[in-house]
Amino acid sequence: MTVPCVGVARESGEQSRQELAGLGLVDDEYEIVHEDGTLYIPVTDPEGVPEEYDLQSKSLPRRETQTTPADLLDFTPSYERLGEVIIIDEDDPDRARALADALVESDIPTKTVLNRASKIQGVERVRDWEILVGEETEAIHREYGCEFALDLAAVYFSPRLATERHRVAEQVSEGEQAVDMFAGVGPFAIPFAKRGATVVGVDINETAIEYLQKNAERNGVADRVTAIHGDISDVAGEYENWADRLVMNLPHSADEFLDSAVRLAGEECVLHFYDIQHEDDLFGPGERAIREAAEPDYRVTVENRHTVRSYAPHEYNVVLDVRLKR
Ligand SMILES: C[S@@+](CC[C@H](N)C(=O)[O-])C[C@H]1O[C@@H](n2cnc3c(N)ncnc32)[C@H](O)[C@@H]1O
Repeated sequence: MTVPCVGVARESGEQSRQELAGLGLVDDEYEIVHEDGTLYIPVTDPEGVPEEYDLQSKSLPRRETQTTPADLLDFTPSYERLGEVIIIDEDDPDRARALADALVESDIPTKTVLNRASKIQGVERVRDWEILVGEETEAIHREYGCEFALDLAAVYFSPRLATERHRVAEQVSEGEQAVDMFAGVGPFAIPFAKRGATVVGVDINETAIEYLQKNAERNGVADRVTAIHGDISDVAGEYENWADRLVMNLPHSADEFLDSAVRLAGEECVLHFYDIQHEDDLFGPGERAIREAAEPDYRVTVENRHTVRSYAPHEYNVVLDVRLKR
């Protein structure tokens, strides 16, 4: 069986391994292999690998010393890792228990195992969890060279959006002024600031804003991040006409806040508008809502229509990158 890996010159192998490990990408279920001057480093998420790497697919041996949950179970397990906090999604209590025990017994570093106990809900988009192992719901998650502390029981966070956040962060240039209107613990705001932007992050969830502030400090960008607890509709007036870039990651109801987005937008502003829509018309409703809010004061150009991920049968999480020019 082939696995995704990057091929790097042997001399730069350790540096590359460390960089990929820092991004949380090294797949330690497989061996790193040396062949003809090239090291092949297995990766967990090919889409997350920075562009400068030579991404390949190769047959690599499993690490014999490594026991995975799959080795201990009679079903193929599925789980997500946020540092040493492992998230599972099992309706059957026996399967959930077996998977939690297998994670602990395996070589995967496991401090906590959390099973999804509800959908994300409420204005703050938080879900309930069943704690199967450990006591705490706080995690330290690493993504593209940034580190985020977050309490899964108190704030929204999804590691699945890492590639999408990176796609957007790569568009940010030094000196930009950006507002993340629904900032959470900062997975857009922090990488933006790391690229030299001045960022305002707003969230109605006070705990998320406390983490955003801590995460700005943790990543050495507190001087460029302003974390504001409040409803963006109330805060927008303080930054009227200010933003070169806006992020609206509140799928299902971002359209209700487009008036605030237009208030925040400067002369020219790029808006990243996230939405969840039926496959019959993925981008039309968002585009119409943006035009209705911004025209005729702004010329509206949709620069990119991108499907982020499947959300439910026939429904997709999508994003519109839109340039507003007054
Ligand atoms: C889907 S989460 C996105 C968080 C973050 N951008 C991320 O990608 O992880 C949406 C966030 O919007 C916040 N929120 C909801 N309504 C809001 C409002 N009116 N003003 C500011 N924040 C709001 C919620 O508390 C939640 O943290």
